[in-house]
Amino acid sequence: MELTKLKEQLCEVCHMMWQQGWTAANDGNVSARAGDGVFLATPTGVSKGAMLPEMLVLVGADGKMLEENACGYRPSSELKMHMRCYEQREDVAAVVHAHPPTATAFACAERALDDYSLTEGVVSLGCVPLAPYATPSTNEVPDSITPLLASHDAVLLAHHGALTVGPDLMSAYYHMETVELWAKISLNARLLGGAVELPREKLDTLFYLRDNYYHLPGRHPGYEKEKERGGEK
Ligand code: 13P
Repeated sequence: MELTKLKEQLCEVCHMMWQQGWTAANDGNVSARAGDGVFLATPTGVSKGAMLPEMLVLVGADGKMLEENACGYRPSSELKMHMRCYEQREDVAAVVHAHPPTATAFACAERALDDYSLTEGVVSLGCVPLAPYATPSTNEVPDSITPLLASHDAVLLAHHGALTVGPDLMSAYYHMETVELWAKISLNARLLGGAVELPREKLDTLFYLRDNYYHLPGRHPGYEKEKERGGEK
């Protein structure tokens, strides 16, 4: 996609995140592959509701700025987390980080989203594991997600928020919508006594449809309970 269009789309994603109430103040960050070894990222310290194309920064594969930003902005403090996603996954062309309130409540309660009870969640993401707590802006954050990224397109960051990746900006954004809606539904199901998991053979049919009918891109863990990672109490 042409750079001007990509900048507009990235700002559109930021505005939708803010309108959805997933970010307060400068929360959240978004990035996208803009070419060979070139990445577009949100600057640090700006509300996602106020993001403008000229505020976005261009960085190389090492995370260093390729040119001075016209408004004097620096890249997001979480750029290391974004760059790890691109390093680890050739198929990833966009990364979204936000603090959607219900998904982040799961992250604060140290619970993964892994009840395998909602068809849409099962097909699109399988489960959303919980990465262990990592101090924001440090290398602990990319290190905490690395083992999970290999087979998941969405991860909860303990006591912090959520991270999604995709083959383009809208796919990464839509994954975040799925994570937040799934978290709301799961929370409501818990109020009603707990989500009931679909039987294993029904899950296998959904996994088959994902591969052979919907042809969804990205990584999917299949049936994988996250209890051993400390995500489920
Ligand atoms: P930045 O403004 O540096 O992108 O930080 C926002 C955030 O959400 C940190 O986790």
